[in-house]
Amino acid sequence: ENFDKYIITVFGASGDLSKKKTFPAIFGLFKQGELKEDECKIVGYARSKMTTEELRSRIKPFLLKQAEEPIVDKFLSNVSYVQGPYDTPEGYKKLGETYKILEKDLNNGEPVNKLHYLALPPSVFGTVCTQIKENIYINEETAKTKIIVEKPFGHDLESSRQLQKELAPLFSEDELYRIDHYLGKEMVKNLLVLRFGNILFSAAWNKEFIQNIQITFKEPFGTEGRGGYFNDIGIIRDVMQNHLLQVLTLLTMERPVSFDSEAVRDEKVKVLKAIAPLNHDDIVIGQYGASEDGSKPSYLDDETVPKGSKCITFAAMNFQIRNERWDGVPIVMKAGKALDVGKVEIRIQFKQVASGMFNEIPNNELVIRIQPHEAVYLKCNMKTPGLATTTKMTDLDLTYNQRYQDFWIPQAYEALIRDALIGDHSNFVRDDELDVSWKLFTPLLDFLEGADAPNPIVYKYGSRGPEEINEYMNNHGYRYMKENTYTWPITRPD
Ligand code: BG6
Repeated sequence: ENFDKYIITVFGASGDLSKKKTFPAIFGLFKQGELKEDECKIVGYARSKMTTEELRSRIKPFLLKQAEEPIVDKFLSNVSYVQGPYDTPEGYKKLGETYKILEKDLNNGEPVNKLHYLALPPSVFGTVCTQIKENIYINEETAKTKIIVEKPFGHDLESSRQLQKELAPLFSEDELYRIDHYLGKEMVKNLLVLRFGNILFSAAWNKEFIQNIQITFKEPFGTEGRGGYFNDIGIIRDVMQNHLLQVLTLLTMERPVSFDSEAVRDEKVKVLKAIAPLNHDDIVIGQYGASEDGSKPSYLDDETVPKGSKCITFAAMNFQIRNERWDGVPIVMKAGKALDVGKVEIRIQFKQVASGMFNEIPNNELVIRIQPHEAVYLKCNMKTPGLATTTKMTDLDLTYNQRYQDFWIPQAYEALIRDALIGDHSNFVRDDELDVSWKLFTPLLDFLEGADAPNPIVYKYGSRGPEEINEYMNNHGYRYMKENTYTWPITRPD
């Protein structure tokens, strides 16, 4: 696809998301030479009364975190601001005029492609998209329109479908790019290569060899300051129904015929459809209390949170995929805020080798660390070096920042904006995919938010989460091993 000239418009330019994520990501691409001054202009649009200069100085501090002032200033000189309402045409008309001026510079007055980034709450997606369609839409051979939207894509199955219904008549699926920023993360993008590009992993990636899988998301901070907002969402909607489910899908889907975006997304939908309904009785839910030393507040201490809220800030649940490959393998997804560390990782525990030669020997584990510091390591057993005849658990370790020092690893939003510019949909959420994921989670959410909802277990801020999680993992086949302390043939104490 020829996508060499474009105008990127950031709707909601005065908001938090655009300041912290959208503009820095566009800047990151500029700094990297992926966006060029004579090929791309950026326009911010919002209701706030401000000048172009004011917008520039508002976003500048966030860009200075990434680069020196001269390059930041150079980028900012390509950013302009248009003020207007979201629900009536006048501001969009002004935008149209601004485009004409910019196109003189960019393309001798001929129209260029438009990428509209909606850094806005979904409640206005429909309104803004309608206005875009009526006032500034372009679909010509050489100049197309693309729209980026971001979660939440609804609150449940019904509201998600409603949103779909609003957008579908306005833009084709091809013009829409639904961001799930986890799909832009380097290690998530690596999953298909790791799985299908290595016969060793590919061959062992099934119920014959895998004992259990864990997908873990931990954040070391709570919802301080945005508890009121979080309260209606909870951890399941915030990261599990979207980010972690995407990870699970890529980890468990069948081999697509190619990297073509539809081929990949077809397989994703297939595996999602093979997941059994989530079992209400097979979950652990928690809400954080104050830290041990009292220095960190509990979730309920936040004044923006309704008294006695049962909002879930930690959850663990088991996914059963009812297909040939996975039947019977526990796949546990866990996510929590205000925990001991910040990390996102996948841990695949393989089955034990036959006994006989070995009394007892640890299971292999493949760990894929998504963040921080991308890494893949495989825990395996080796002979203790030297004269000893014992075995020792060790690892084959691929830590990115040691192995790949000269590579630029783009931030998730950088990678995704570039994908949208070049028209690659692989790492965006397709409409049917969204529908199946809500179908899966809505009954569980209804139960957890209904009159018979259980109370979340209170865990300490800064802890590993509710203590019940250890037993839960044991019940789902996880064999805990004290790494590196095991020596054959002495039986390891449990
Ligand atoms: C967002 C959630 O979608 O993802 C946040 O709304 C969460 O609550 C964030 O903190 C996590 O993203 P990342 O990239 O920091 O892991």
